[in-house]
Amino acid sequence: MNKQHDISSVLTENRVFAPSKKFAAKAIVSSAKNLDKIRKAAEKNPVAFWEQCAAALQWDKKWKSALIWNYPFAQWFAGGKINASVNCLDRHLSSYRKNKAAIIWEGEPGDQRTLTYGQLHAEVCRAANVLKKFGIGKGDTVAIYMGMIPEAVIAMLACARIGAVHNVVFGGFSSDALRDRMLDMKAKLLVTQDGAFRRGTSVNLKDAADKAVAECPDITSVIVVRRSGENIQMCAGRDYWWGEVMKSATAINKPESLSAEHPLFALYTSGSTGKPKGILHTTGGYLTQVNFTSRIIFDLNDDDIYFCTADIGWVTGHSYVVYGPLSNGATVFMYEGAPNFPDAGRFWDMIERHRITILYTAPTAIRAFMKWGDSYVLKHDLSSLRLLGSVGEPINPEAWMWYRAVVGKNNCPIVDTWWQTETGAIMIAPIPGVVPTKPGSGTLPLPGIIADAVRRDGTSCEQNEGGYLVIKHPWPAMLRTIVGDDERYRKTYWSEFPPNENGEGGWYFTGDGARRDKDGYFWIIGRVDDVVNVSGHRLGTAEIESALVSHTTVAEAAVITRPDEIKGNALVAFVTLKSGADVPALHELREILRNHVAKEIGHIAKPDEIRFSEQLPKTRSGKIMRRLLREIVAEGKTSGDTTALEDFSVLEKLRATEEE
Ligand code: WT7
Repeated sequence: MNKQHDISSVLTENRVFAPSKKFAAKAIVSSAKNLDKIRKAAEKNPVAFWEQCAAALQWDKKWKSALIWNYPFAQWFAGGKINASVNCLDRHLSSYRKNKAAIIWEGEPGDQRTLTYGQLHAEVCRAANVLKKFGIGKGDTVAIYMGMIPEAVIAMLACARIGAVHNVVFGGFSSDALRDRMLDMKAKLLVTQDGAFRRGTSVNLKDAADKAVAECPDITSVIVVRRSGENIQMCAGRDYWWGEVMKSATAINKPESLSAEHPLFALYTSGSTGKPKGILHTTGGYLTQVNFTSRIIFDLNDDDIYFCTADIGWVTGHSYVVYGPLSNGATVFMYEGAPNFPDAGRFWDMIERHRITILYTAPTAIRAFMKWGDSYVLKHDLSSLRLLGSVGEPINPEAWMWYRAVVGKNNCPIVDTWWQTETGAIMIAPIPGVVPTKPGSGTLPLPGIIADAVRRDGTSCEQNEGGYLVIKHPWPAMLRTIVGDDERYRKTYWSEFPPNENGEGGWYFTGDGARRDKDGYFWIIGRVDDVVNVSGHRLGTAEIESALVSHTTVAEAAVITRPDEIKGNALVAFVTLKSGADVPALHELREILRNHVAKEIGHIAKPDEIRFSEQLPKTRSGKIMRRLLREIVAEGKTSGDTTALEDFSVLEKLRATEEE
């Protein structure tokens, strides 16, 4: 946490939108009075509340203790036995849902597939048998490096079925990033595909996978889905075509009965140090909260066609493309490609053709749609839409109002959902039939979630005073640890607000700043550590800096952000070159360094701007003063306090660093 300065927040938004009568009349939660009662009871006894939610799932054996809290380690529903794939599939097979669409998928080129719950179940059973045949069992890790095709979901659920832990690596990540994750997880098998369609061309994933696997001795087999049809190398005895191994597998598979705390998946995310963290999630508690939140916040009904635009490489894809909606028996619409292929109207075209009723997307996408122009939206009949969602970063009120008016025709509630990879499921969001919304606020924590904005000393902030967003009671979908590093888990999330001498307290620190308004609504101010949010993706500046420094020409680097109309934030890197390094022309070096970061991490981490500087502003103890860099980028000068600065002449030089 940055201890240098306090968090300030500017109050501007006063608009309030009550749920429409029409929406409320049909909503799953429709009585404000009832909700209030539930909220109050859950505040007193969160565990009892979550037990009620857990009862909505199918358990093989009921739990003995709902929560065992050994600060900062939690066990939820200990003693219980459950299987996530059974909850997402088998339990829908005894009703009409067997023949209901589980996944309606559209490829970028326009091809379509629909899998009913019955069909998805059969595919998952086959894939589970395949994994077992390849020697994968309970507790083994399977890496998944794929685009948005149904096989990615099938592979995830097949892992869940046999008790293997999945680690999905976003298809946009580089081979180095894939390698690091597979090594950290000691993954034994990789599921990938030849190529994924994106903006009219195919992105070859298998080549990147090959490079990564070459350095991962624990990976013994690679299963490859044929998607793009392009030419790829198959390594005999290691690589197998998905289509072929699936053909010889039966569709009968007995699921493993797993303890509630059995690990379901790990997903890597950025932190304020260079090394990504493997966030570990387990089964029973995670499923309880994603199941509950999907149903209540998206008001999921059997006749909904629900479209979450997130990639399964992110936690939103895990919780709100796969486990949440499928455990509710919902119909999930899944799209493979870019939102602007063949043109900027693709989403609206799909919403019209598939009669999509719920759209859950990110502010960065909404801002892009705004920029592309209303005409792309207005061309299409969006009358099927009845609820809109937002996630990933604070949504600016202007984008919120546009989303409401142009996409939702002032007719759809907007659920702005705050949560994190670590929280596993939505924590702060309006319950759409009941809670009035305000543009830019996630409104209130869910029942059973005890959140607060606090000062550094742990006291609660006053109305509209900015503070640190903390969670004061364990919640079922919380991360259990960082893979292989309990100490880092404790340090990163639980050391800022430790228990007092009586053992009370001990709060989870989110890394976000927030304030609460007069109605108790939360307004997220942004990150307070060295983590930045670009296009809804959380990036550690330290990670990008260390990627830059790994280049032969770079001595030192500092990465900060400046506001960007579409991406929310743009990345600006200040780079000091090694003296005597063999350096090409600076405009060439900029491109080289950008590509170097793309290779080390992935395209999303590429700096938008690189400024070369002879020195970086540092404190006497050698800490880079990023605040000064931010001021230079924003205002071309520094106005804040510079007394800690070691060498004042640096500032003069930094002002002259703007990219030509
Ligand atoms: C960080 C978590 C949760 C899935 C996607 C991102 C920011 C997320 C909101 C929101 C304001 C938000 C926070 C958070 N964030 N949703 N509705 N309003 N900020 O997951 O990569 O783990 O990032 O994203 O800063 O800490 P993630």
